Amino acid sequence: MAAFRAPAVVMSRQILVTSALPYANGSIHLGHLVEYIQTDIWVRFQKLSGNDCHYVCADDTHGTAIMLRAEKEGITPEALIDGVWREHTADFADFHVGFDHYYSTHSDENRVLASKIYLSLKDAGLIETRTIAQLFDPVKNLFLADRFIKGVCPKCHTADQYGDNCEACGATYAPTDLINPVSTISGAAPVVKDSEHHFFKLGDCEAFLAEWTKSGTLQPEAANKMQEWFASGLSNWDISRDAPYFGFEIPDAPGKYFYVWLDAPVGYMASFARYAADRNLDFDAWWGADSKTELVHFIGKDILYFHALFWPAMLKFSGYRTPTAVYAHGFLTVNGQKMSKSRGTFITARSYIDAGLNPEWLRYYFAAKLNGSMEDIDLNLDDFTARVNSDLVGKLVNIASRTAGFIHKHFEGRLAQDLANVELVQAFQRGAPAIAEHYEARDYARALREIMALADRANEYIAEEKPWELSKQPESMDRLHEVCTIALNCFRLLTLYLKPVLPKLAAEVETFLGIAPLIWRDADSLILRQPINEYSHLMTRIDPKAIDAMIDANKQHLEPTPAAAPARHAEAQAHATSPAAAVPAAETISIDDFAKIDLRIARIAEASHVEGADKLLRLTLDLGELGTRQVFAGIKSAYAPETLVGRYTVMVANLAPRKMKFGMSEGMVLAASHPVGHKGDAPGLFILSPDSGAQPGMKVK
Ligand code: MSP
Ligand code: ZN
Repeated sequence: MAAFRAPAVVMSRQILVTSALPYANGSIHLGHLVEYIQTDIWVRFQKLSGNDCHYVCADDTHGTAIMLRAEKEGITPEALIDGVWREHTADFADFHVGFDHYYSTHSDENRVLASKIYLSLKDAGLIETRTIAQLFDPVKNLFLADRFIKGVCPKCHTADQYGDNCEACGATYAPTDLINPVSTISGAAPVVKDSEHHFFKLGDCEAFLAEWTKSGTLQPEAANKMQEWFASGLSNWDISRDAPYFGFEIPDAPGKYFYVWLDAPVGYMASFARYAADRNLDFDAWWGADSKTELVHFIGKDILYFHALFWPAMLKFSGYRTPTAVYAHGFLTVNGQKMSKSRGTFITARSYIDAGLNPEWLRYYFAAKLNGSMEDIDLNLDDFTARVNSDLVGKLVNIASRTAGFIHKHFEGRLAQDLANVELVQAFQRGAPAIAEHYEARDYARALREIMALADRANEYIAEEKPWELSKQPESMDRLHEVCTIALNCFRLLTLYLKPVLPKLAAEVETFLGIAPLIWRDADSLILRQPINEYSHLMTRIDPKAIDAMIDANKQHLEPTPAAAPARHAEAQAHATSPAAAVPAAETISIDDFAKIDLRIARIAEASHVEGADKLLRLTLDLGELGTRQVFAGIKSAYAPETLVGRYTVMVANLAPRKMKFGMSEGMVLAASHPVGHKGDAPGLFILSPDSGAQPGMKVK
């Protein structure tokens, strides 16, 4: 009887991957992108390898900061987080961060799961209540977190220090120790007030955490940090906040809310729950205590405490599975320094795109710097330019651009039938397993070094074979065909190896070569005989001017100081007294330049004074089908708000939104006034109106 041999089945892994949930109170910047790009590369690699991998994330929407910002902007927190969700998802899409689901922590699923986890922890005896004394703002009627209190340092007497530590002498203290404390929200002197808080008894989870830490879940550096934390003792965690708070009310404690960090990580589950419901995945198979799947969290090193202590303990003692891995990365510096608003290196994702820079350049550069450790990584802008130009344009794309043309010129666009010399291509194929290991280990720097070493070999080969000379000798046509076919096979393999990092370029190469989307297994095959499409340029060099423009744009993102600055910004936005308009004879522009300005008819739906601003009015502009916009206009000297409501005017609708002290300004209303430097006595300011019949949203051209 012949022995029965089961076919070799390679089980694909089931992996749920997350990135930390970005706060919904700010824009995505290049620091954030380190993390989302790092995670996305890993996820893409897993998917290319045939694993069943899902990548979920969400906006982290709760907390005092978001509540206060919404209040400042005169909108509800829900409206604020909706707008930010749209902004964030557009930014991520532009950088090719391919979430399978991007949700919000302000969701029903999250409310249900967070409450359930809390009640389970309570049943397990891990929640206690205790009354604590805290500083309270008697004007705003809210308890003040340390960062909302300033005062004189009790130790060195430097003024204007935050509630928990002194920037001058480094002392740390309780906010109640500050001399002459003030609330940064209202300016009032805070009072001490008692309140009952709910605590998660982390101390009781120590034995479990010590065990979990040893399970190989953490990087060595992170495991060391854990040992330090254990050594200094785990204190119980305050998980409640008093109303008013934007968040979820604690089920059995009216007026008390979950601290934002309680429901934030639950947001990972909630995002997956919604995704699973939409696709018929079994939630319990992924999150149940005996789940066989992998759960992998990518985070920044600043939030390790939450992910390596609170989160696994919360999961464990509420009856869920614990993470398989928590991978922390370091912080981004720009040109060797902390990102800074005044230097223009606090670079927003949007400004990078707006400067015309290719997102894949940044993905490549970050990948070249990421090695799976917690070390900080530096974006040196000169090195960025040099590296991308040399590796991607000089080495990679060059392989195709120097060989593809001959295939069309001499061989009717078809690759050679077979190859006499496959040595080089086989060397490329043999590289696949090691490159895969480096991706798996998050050592992208090493993966790219090996890929670029292969690219160097392909370029050396082309330089030796000189296809441009072969093409001049009729007797060398077969050789030319083979050389170009070999080079393009090398190029195909390099494209595959870089596909986790450069997904868009890979898609373009797939079109160019006329092949199905590459997967990791395709490293085993070659392309022969088949027709390819004509080569068109795949990637350009970085223009250093675009980088300068981006830095300049971020300098303008500076938040105006409370004094005179907002009026200046508002004026530049509100009417045409910007410096450009002050140039005596305005520079001519092309019709294309003009066409970039999206002028629209707007109906002033609401107009109001802005507390603390002496030149500004807050306008809500109705743009018909385009929705509404909030604009701060420096027209208070000329108009009472009530006289504006219902009027039609003209606005610039595609001006980049600007964050001002009082909120976001999302455009600019057109108004006439004398140019700066005009000698005369008429100080008038006149907003423009369309002729009757014009409707909100109409384009002005
Ligand atoms: N909302 C929390 C995370 C909750 S997870 C349940 C948060 N948000 S954040 O917007 O401040 O940061 C989101 C992620 O971006 C974090 O992992 C953080 O470490 C990372 N980064 C933020 N600034 C960064 C740099 N400058 N450099 C690298 N990563 C950075 O934390
Ligand atoms: Zn001090």
